[in-house]
Amino acid sequence: MQISIEAHNISVRYAQKPVLWEIDFHLPMGKIIGILGSNGSGKTTLLKSILGLLPTESGYIQVFGKPIAEVLNKIAYIPQKTSIDWDFPASVMDVVLMARYNPKKWFFRYSQADKNMAAQCLQKVNMLEFANRHISELSGGQQQRVFMARALAQEAELYLLDEPFVGIDTTTEEVIWHLLKDLRNQGKTVVLVHHDLQSVERNMDYLLLLNTRLVAAGETAHIFNAENLRATFGGQLPILEQLAERIRLDKLPLREQDFQDRQV
Ligand SMILES: Nc1ncnc2c1ncn2[C@@H]1O[C@H](COP(=O)(O)OP(=O)(O)OP(=O)(O)O)[C@@H](O)[C@H]1O
Ligand SMILES: [Mg+2]
Repeated sequence: MQISIEAHNISVRYAQKPVLWEIDFHLPMGKIIGILGSNGSGKTTLLKSILGLLPTESGYIQVFGKPIAEVLNKIAYIPQKTSIDWDFPASVMDVVLMARYNPKKWFFRYSQADKNMAAQCLQKVNMLEFANRHISELSGGQQQRVFMARALAQEAELYLLDEPFVGIDTTTEEVIWHLLKDLRNQGKTVVLVHHDLQSVERNMDYLLLLNTRLVAAGETAHIFNAENLRATFGGQLPILEQLAERIRLDKLPLREQDFQDRQV
């Protein structure tokens, strides 16, 4: 397995309270990877630790085998919506164009190719008609779509998305899942914090289940089960019953087969 992100013994505390505790994992490259956990389980903290935005108390994290500072230009990040400053004076086009900014060039100016690229990305999320609007004058879901366009325009190798579907309608959500799968099919790695357990199996290849400690990490087919979900979320979740029901149904054809075998 080629590794995208590798974490060893990561612990983070805020004011003496442990928020991540002795986390260890290897994530594959070229997959859609979900981070699942309840509110306050440390998902955003983990993304920020990967990006080097928070000091970790112990351990280390590498991205593509290197310290984060050496690969930041290969990473696109969409923060959780609550932490974005919407008063920032920028149009929709400005926000997407920022993805093309290259601080290493003197007298940097956006080229026509950059502008075309930004327009294409806005088109992909159906937001091109809003290109000249100020970002604060958009609905919540539209703002989220603009941030998705910006992440796409960055042409990154690794996408870290903190709840990218919040406020997004179901039609657009499907469009974005398609875009993420296109990225994955081009060999890019997509890591996203996600809340809708119903869409996990359909869309995610690999999961990281978090509850301050790491509950489990692995291929969705191996670890998305009732026992792990209970350890992650506790209590009774509707999906636990659905999983139990499906296991029961999965067994039915077998019984039918047994029955036919007995008939012969
Ligand atoms: N800046 C901070 N100072 C102190 N405590 C914090 C800070 N940021 C987060 N916390 C606490 O750390 C814990 C984990 O927060 P985090 O934002 O990582 O959770 P999360 O899993 O992303 O939750 P959500 O699903 O609500 O986004 C929470 O208990 C939270 O209250
Ligand atoms: Mg969060």
